[in-house]
Amino acid sequence: MCGIVGYLGRERAAPVLLGGLQKLEYRGYDSAGIALMHDGALTLIRRRGRVSELQFAEGFLGNAGIGHTRWATHGAPCERNAHPQRFGKVCLVHNGIIENAARLKEQCLARGETFSSETDSEVVAHLIDGEYAKDGDLLKAVRRAARRLTGSYALAVLAEGTEEIVCARMRSPLVVAVGQEGVFAASDMTAVAAAGRTAYVLEDGDFARMTCGKAELFDASLVPVARAPVPLAAERSSDGKGAYPHFMRKEIAEVPQAVRATLKGARIGGLLAQNKVLCQTKYLHIVACGTAYHSGLCMKAACERIARIPVQVFLASEYRYAEPIVPADTLTVAVSQSGETADTLAAAELAKEKGSFVLGVVNAPHSSLARLADAVLQTRAGTEIAVAATKSFNAQLAALYALAARLAKLRGKGTYPLGAFPALCKETLSACENVAAWVPRFAAARCVFFLGRGADRYAALEGSLKLKEVSYLPGEGYAAGELKHGTLALVDERTPVVAVICDEALADKTMNAVHEVYARGAPVFLVTPFRELCRAREVTASVVIPHCMPVFAPMLSVIPLQLLAYHTALAVGADPDKPRNLAKSVTVE
Ligand code: F6R
Repeated sequence: MCGIVGYLGRERAAPVLLGGLQKLEYRGYDSAGIALMHDGALTLIRRRGRVSELQFAEGFLGNAGIGHTRWATHGAPCERNAHPQRFGKVCLVHNGIIENAARLKEQCLARGETFSSETDSEVVAHLIDGEYAKDGDLLKAVRRAARRLTGSYALAVLAEGTEEIVCARMRSPLVVAVGQEGVFAASDMTAVAAAGRTAYVLEDGDFARMTCGKAELFDASLVPVARAPVPLAAERSSDGKGAYPHFMRKEIAEVPQAVRATLKGARIGGLLAQNKVLCQTKYLHIVACGTAYHSGLCMKAACERIARIPVQVFLASEYRYAEPIVPADTLTVAVSQSGETADTLAAAELAKEKGSFVLGVVNAPHSSLARLADAVLQTRAGTEIAVAATKSFNAQLAALYALAARLAKLRGKGTYPLGAFPALCKETLSACENVAAWVPRFAAARCVFFLGRGADRYAALEGSLKLKEVSYLPGEGYAAGELKHGTLALVDERTPVVAVICDEALADKTMNAVHEVYARGAPVFLVTPFRELCRAREVTASVVIPHCMPVFAPMLSVIPLQLLAYHTALAVGADPDKPRNLAKSVTVE
């Protein structure tokens, strides 16, 4: 989603800002812009489209500036709605949503002010400009304006007449970093990570004032505060795509190491530290969105089977409005790659309010979720650049399966070693070479079904989401036994069906669904460890994956589905790393 960068220091700001924005491109955006301060005057450069459209400004003068990548919420993706937004002497970049923008705008209009964009952010520029005119103190002006805002915001603000950048944070991430070259602000560590710099993560209600060589932090009352410094290493994502044509392909190849590192982290301390809470846990609630929600469903299958603990999985966006019943001794697990997903954060907050212990299963160690949770079980997938989650899904499964195994052990329900999974994932990757050959049937499809029962169904749901995201093909993940209750009406020869069958006890049942779709002309593609099933005349093509305990099988069966989505995206001419309309980190509700 939207990204913020800010810089003030010895270097020329334009190349620093453009470099920072390039690092934020993976989050998804539709316009970009920078503002530079030079000799007390502001210059704005904004464009619809990619950050590369701003490259011509690299040589522009000015040692202070702010930049933004915008993912449109209020107003179309066009130049006048791009950030920075300016009014009077004030210019700002904003992430988040101002919920009372319409009412505030009416007040500005009543004062005779005019607006040049449809954004909620421009309203904030109007408010700050009005306050700044009173005493010329930008920090105080931002604070006074912020008190009138409801909603979420990360702001970086410049004003003519000052040599400083003022930042504010409320429910939208923001860090400031200090290095030899100057001070930086960003909505994402990725944009400022470099060896030798130290970052400070702002808390909700905090303000920051960046001046030459210095970043001062203040609480909501403008009392100076100290926040724990986070030393930054050079960002590993800058390693680029390596030998791979796309980040998505590279990240699928990194599944084994993501799983290995996550399992190791869970063993060393991650879960052992939580024995007391885990011993008391009677119910498990999982809150998450999208792919992370699917990892929660897979956890439900595993945990209920091996630890015999009832698990409820909630879409985080529904949790708040479902008036959830949270009995005593409920452990709430909030699962998120970014740790910044607004709905997941809100659900975790509500679970805490209801007295539940919240365990964050999170990939970004300094994210809002990592700080909000009572404890963190880190997934160690490394930075994930492609918008579609792949290795982070497998890393979530590794963390959640480790949690299920720990709960089972503490309840005397047996031990479930997971150490073989990194090697099994590697073996699965090698078994997937023929998946690219399936693609012509998918690229020409009207609709695609992914079928499974039990844990296989959850892998099917994730496979379907991946395909929709990156290849724009309509499709559904479906319970194999439910198909004939209506949805079978959609199936014909242009409806490829992917069946996931990893549980011997359910294989015959799912094969019944395969017979049904085959009889309607659908080509059938099978993902299974059971070689004999692949010989059935109904099966057009198959991938034979390694055997493992069926409740853990999504860890392996999802890999060919991730690859199928990737290759289909290429076949239909879509960029698998940057699917249209989507953002990597969904920081608004
Ligand atoms: C799908 C995808 C999204 C995310 C969802 C939650 O490939 O990436 O569905 O899984 O937006 O994001 P996180 O895990 O960051 O909370």
